[in-house]
Order: sequence, then C-alpha cells, then structure tokens
Amino acid sequence: MKRKALITGIAGQDGSYLAELLLAKDYDVFGMIPRRSTPETQTLRIEHIGSQLHLEYGDVLDLASIYRVMKLVHPDEIYHLAAQSHVRISFTEPIHTTSVISLGTLNMLEATSEFAPWARFYHAASSEMYGNTPDYPINEDSRMIPCSPYAAAKLQAYHLTQIFRVSKRLFASNGILFNHESPRRGLNFVTAKVVKGALDIRGGRADRLELGNLDATRDWGHAEDYVRAMWLMLQAPQPGDYVVATGREVSVRDLCAYVFDKVGLGDYRKYVVTSERFLRPFELEHLRGDASKARRDLDWQPTWTFETMLDEMIEVLGRRLSAAATAD
Ligand code: GDD
Repeated sequence: MKRKALITGIAGQDGSYLAELLLAKDYDVFGMIPRRSTPETQTLRIEHIGSQLHLEYGDVLDLASIYRVMKLVHPDEIYHLAAQSHVRISFTEPIHTTSVISLGTLNMLEATSEFAPWARFYHAASSEMYGNTPDYPINEDSRMIPCSPYAAAKLQAYHLTQIFRVSKRLFASNGILFNHESPRRGLNFVTAKVVKGALDIRGGRADRLELGNLDATRDWGHAEDYVRAMWLMLQAPQPGDYVVATGREVSVRDLCAYVFDKVGLGDYRKYVVTSERFLRPFELEHLRGDASKARRDLDWQPTWTFETMLDEMIEVLGRRLSAAATAD
C-alpha cells in the first residue's frame, strides 16, 4: 500500500518541492488548495508535476472543507504549510494573517485529531518566532520574542501544535525553518527581488532597484534541502521541534553585492536605493540558526550553499525573463 500525504499550501515554493520529494518516494500526494479568483496562475509552481498530484479544494479557515478532505484522503502524513507568509504584509493585513496562521493551524489540528489521529502532522513554524532574541546563535531553547503579527501568529500555532502533541497524543512536530529560497521563491521576498532586479537592470528593463533595510542579516538555505528536513521529522521515532538552518548569516547588502557582481553589473551601489516603502515598522535585525539537533537526530544537513542557491536562482530566473522578453 502506498503511503498517503496531504499538503496544505501545496502551490507555494515549499509545497511544490515537497510534493516532488514525496512522489519520488512513491507516496500518493494530495494537495488542498483554496478557491481563488486567479486559478490560471494559482498552480504555476506545480503544473509541471501533472496528473500524479491529486488536488482538492479546501481552505484552512473552513473546517467543513478540511473535514471533507480528511475523510476523502485518509492521510498517513499531513504537512501543514498554508499561511500568509510575507512578514511585511502581515503589518498591513494583521487580522487575515493571524486568522490563516493561528486559526488555520488549530483547524488542521482539530481535524487531524478528529479524522486522522494516526497521522503524523508537520507544522511549518518559523525562525521569525525568535524575533530579536538575545540568545544567539538560535536553537530550540532560545527565547522567542516575536516582532511581527506574522511571527506572533506562528508562535501561537507552534504552541498549539505542542499542546495537541501532549493533550491529544498526536505525532505533531514543529519545523522551525530559517529563510529558504529557490527559483520558485515569490518575487516580493528579498532574494528573488534582488535577483530579478539585477537581471532587469542588465536587460535594460529597469535602471534601479528599491529595497528596504540593507543591514538586516538572514540565514539563507535552499528550499529543496529544507523540505527534506520536513519529511525526516515525520520519519523520526518521536515527534519534536527542530531548528533547520545553515548556521551562516549574510546581510541584504552582501546579498546585493554577490548578485550584482555575478550578473556582470559590478558595484550594486550604483543601482540599489533604499525606499521607506519597503522598511518594516518593527524589524527583525538578525537571524542565525544552530541546527545541531536536526543534524544529530535527523541526520539532516544542507547540500546547497548561499552561493550555489543564488547561482541557480540567477540562471533559472534569467532564462524565464528572457523567454518572457522574447514572447513580447
Ligand atoms: N521582502 C523584502 N523586500 N525584504 C527586504 C527588502 C525588500 O525590498 N529590503 C530589505 N529587506 C529585508 C527585510 O526587511 C528582511 O530583514 C530581509 O530582507 C528578508 O526579508 P524577506 O525575504 O521578505 O524574508 P523574511 O525574513 O521577512 O521572512 C521569510 O523567512 C521566514 C523564516 O525566517 C519568509 O519566508 C517567512 O515566511 C519565513 O517564516
């Protein structure tokens, strides 16, 4: 019998890589997708996978729809990735962000304990939960001091996952993933924005790139490595909480320097300007994770570096942009 996996947020960056990984491991993969007014673009990241994927309409805010999907799928593993995942936008849409993340996770946990209590449950928590913690580098025991509506909502969902682990005896684990990127990254996250911005300038489609805080640092890995950690968490003998990170911290400024140089434009300072618009009302300044626990207990380690990840993004986005320019 094939194992069955259910993924919420399957059309996102991580959902698409995770679906590929699980199909390669011979799972039956089901995705829950919400109805949107833009179905033409909604599933772009998973279109190449084709009919091997089973997609069902369902929304994490609509408990009845989750019940329907759970009863239909009978999943062995549940990967709950759905969220409003943009930190700055969470200041603009705090109620929507909090509902989708906190209530959405509670709904998923309730439905799991009701209809699939045997299933192993992965919750996509986030390194944002640590905020500007003084405990550095960050591990599972570092203090969590969230500084955005997004992070506060993730912290609640993280606690709910732990509470269901104990009170309902669910095999429920939190993956505390640090930033992870790829050519499938949304273009309003900083790595993809910088890569696209530099390629647009090189292609003559733009003459400058507006960014926010250049001094922030992040611990950036590749999404492909990070979805493998998700799967490993659900294969472990016990549920738990795991930091997933590379242990290396790079500033947005150094990200720009690398990308602009790599595409042949030289000094990024000729093109990058800072704009109020992209500053956050409360910034998380620095993130660097210590993934010793995942390395030890899950035998996980990253295979991509900051540079190889960006090189791939430059190559793939570059091809995509020149194909689009030709189509024009
Ligand atoms: N998006 C964006 N746009 N970020 C910018 C910009 C800009 O124009 N200019 C500077 N930055 C800075 C942000 O202020 C932040 O410090 C850093 O670049 C990274 O921003 P994002 O790429 O938007 O990611 P994030 O760190 O806020 O959040 C991502 O990682 C989290 C895990 O740590 C998201 O993927 C979250 O969903 C995830 O939980």
